[in-house]
Amino acid sequence: ANNTDGLAGFPKYKIANIKDIQQQLSSGCPVYFFAYPLTNEPCFLVDLQVLLGQPVPEIPNPYYGQYAGPLGQMKTISGVGPNNSIYAFSDVCVHLGCQLPAQVLVTSENNPGLDTQNSVLHCPCHGSLYLLAKGGVVIGGPAPRPLPIILLEYDQSSGDIYAVGTNAPYFSASIPRTTPSDNLLYDPRYDYSVPSNPSCSKG
Ligand code: FES
Repeated sequence: ANNTDGLAGFPKYKIANIKDIQQQLSSGCPVYFFAYPLTNEPCFLVDLQVLLGQPVPEIPNPYYGQYAGPLGQMKTISGVGPNNSIYAFSDVCVHLGCQLPAQVLVTSENNPGLDTQNSVLHCPCHGSLYLLAKGGVVIGGPAPRPLPIILLEYDQSSGDIYAVGTNAPYFSASIPRTTPSDNLLYDPRYDYSVPSNPSCSKG
């Protein structure tokens, strides 16, 4: 069903400068965390070209046509940065709301985390698998819908990267909301925290 609650009215925040991200990625950390749009809503940046070792075309918007406003009209979403390859995703699994940093950061046999060969992100809570290079679509596990993408803008002259919106609500519809229906992005029962950067540790 179409959503008319308005995902169009998002703030524009500076979230990082390209130099911060490049410094972190060159140290071997595949992601850069930030909060958007609220301070307890964790998201992460990832450079898909660095991750996959090859240029990445625009990624499909799995939520195309599902929400009102301009974001719902974008068939594909472009990366930002010098190679148009930096994307941002919600760091909260849409199944039952587990936060994803731990498994993004830690990759081991029992806890696959972020498969950097294929850009598959694994939620350890119940095994959902998201394919980042295809817009966060679900390729396994119980997640009922794709991982939301945060829309970015890049200022070439300063190198600043801004978050300007998202393509879908972060939380699953299966989670009862305690906030008005026009505020789909915030559930006060959750108290996520956003990891500081750099925060990667492979284990
Ligand atoms: Fe991620 Fe259930 S919360 S798979």
